[in-house]
Amino acid sequence: MALLNRANLNSFNLLLNHYYKFATGTVRLKTRGQISLSSHLRQEKIKQMSGNFADSENSPELSNVKSRTFETIIANRRDQACRSMLVQVKSLDSQDDLQNYCAQFGDILSMHHYQKDKEHYILIEFKDIVSINEIMSSASFGDEVSIAPIKSSVFWFRKRQFTLSYKKNQKKIMLATENGCTYPTEKEIANFLHNAKSISGQIINLYEALKLNDLEIRLRFHTAYHLEQYFSRLFQNIKVLPFGSSLNGFGTKRCDLDLVLILDNIQNKSTNMVFHTKSMKLNERREKKEFMGILASTMQHFIPGIHNVRKILEARVPIIKFNYNYTNIECDLSATNMTAVYMSELLNLYGEIDWRVRPLVTVIRKWAKSQKITSDVPGQWITNFSLSLLVLFYLQQQHILPSLKTLKLYATRDDIRCTENGIDCTFQRNLEKLPAEYKYKSNQDNLESLLYGFFKFISTFNFYTDGICIREGTVIPKPSSSALYITNPLETTLNVCKNVNTYELNLINEKAHDALFILETHNSKNNNDWGIMVLLKMKNFEIMGTLKLNRKEQSIVDYLENYSDEISKVDINPSKKKKKTV
Ligand code: GTP
Ligand code: MG
Repeated sequence: MALLNRANLNSFNLLLNHYYKFATGTVRLKTRGQISLSSHLRQEKIKQMSGNFADSENSPELSNVKSRTFETIIANRRDQACRSMLVQVKSLDSQDDLQNYCAQFGDILSMHHYQKDKEHYILIEFKDIVSINEIMSSASFGDEVSIAPIKSSVFWFRKRQFTLSYKKNQKKIMLATENGCTYPTEKEIANFLHNAKSISGQIINLYEALKLNDLEIRLRFHTAYHLEQYFSRLFQNIKVLPFGSSLNGFGTKRCDLDLVLILDNIQNKSTNMVFHTKSMKLNERREKKEFMGILASTMQHFIPGIHNVRKILEARVPIIKFNYNYTNIECDLSATNMTAVYMSELLNLYGEIDWRVRPLVTVIRKWAKSQKITSDVPGQWITNFSLSLLVLFYLQQQHILPSLKTLKLYATRDDIRCTENGIDCTFQRNLEKLPAEYKYKSNQDNLESLLYGFFKFISTFNFYTDGICIREGTVIPKPSSSALYITNPLETTLNVCKNVNTYELNLINEKAHDALFILETHNSKNNNDWGIMVLLKMKNFEIMGTLKLNRKEQSIVDYLENYSDEISKVDINPSKKKKKTV
């Protein structure tokens, strides 16, 4: 069997590539209760290989990108956001009129529809930003009284009398997405999981159902650009970038949107005229807090779509929390926090190195939430971010992921990065340049095996004496008395789990033992609730049978599940007894 496994490794990798194409971004959730998959043609067109960063199929400058580094992906997404505008329409029936109206201003590349409550929105991507500027110049302000109305690329489409005849040669643009932001209910996900053929298949299905799709990512970049448009009218050098799970590929539907405000360096030109300015140093905590306070008030009073602004300025990283009304996404805005952006880049890179990373992180995050190990509010419990690091460390121990030290060792001059406060964030960013062992991995365990292995790992790890170091990829003696110690990979003197207390650590341990027991005893599909459904406390009340993959995609998943079972059998011994630590 081992020989067969080796011999088939290449075809397996090929298959994974196919899976990768299928698995990312092409599952569309169009209507509640029904998960439909887009056509093969669209799959070919949408190059959404990295799970979250689709190059737009219609954008030539994007589809030609060869080196898909994090930075080029962000640059492309930002460019896409600048060329896009969000229009609220009365109903989907307005689509033709809207297209006809907008086509006067330039070529439209794509149109995406979604509904928020009863409101309909269409995100239109133009080929050129000039088209949006012209629409902005010709648009008017509504009847609402505003002391300081500001123009932005969010509009109402007011249907008035105008000629509806299409211009010569103008093709009707099909909506790239219809009802693009519908989320599956727990019941739908439960049914989806129930229909899988193995636990590995359940994990893949869960990841597919929960991950952010192309439109959701477009809207996240749009939100950042919307803010940036306002701020840049006040200050010359402001950029707003998304980061965190919206960018690193670990994000799931409705996850918060982390935004960071960055001040670009203004080049000192030797001109005769020099502007009078006021000095303010954002790396000084007091001034940063004041600045954030001013921004928060501006956002609350002047920026449309922004509601429920909360200033959390006393935290270690001061943030402004708010709700973006057009998408109903909770956002956290921080200032000049480049380490967090590079951290997202690192996590994204780890997600890119092996296709199993993101599905595994997704199921473990979901498990932690269902077991009340994590929470949406901060406290003395582990965060999703720290939990993800724990998974990455486990995968390092399985020789699936390299240590950060290795990534640093292979870094080139192009990879040198240093933050505003001098933190070295240099590491190899090009997957092609990784050592061969991380391109053609000997560990081809399936997801079920890895999930089981993860629970085994945390239930046997000696958290009382040992710490975890992603940078070295090794266990370290715990340098402090914190209950849980995971070094911050980029700032190794910091413990990202400093907040976690002993009670919460014991809870993780206890739940991991329970999880092992569940995986050992509920792994048969014969039960109504089985596999990760039990882990995630999902009940299958009725089999709706509507959540189906099309034949081609189902056969890929079947093949993958069957094959990965062949590659490694999980050492599951049903006779083992449930253990619990107190
Ligand atoms: P969800 O929002 O729960 O989906 O996960 P997330 O990864 O986005 O976590 P969160 O919103 O809490 O944090 C956003 C990002 O900030 C993370 O992805 C990290 O890049 C960074 N971050 C979060 N916590 C820490 C921390 O304790 N230390 C450092 N250096 N960075 C952190
Ligand atoms: Mg987040």
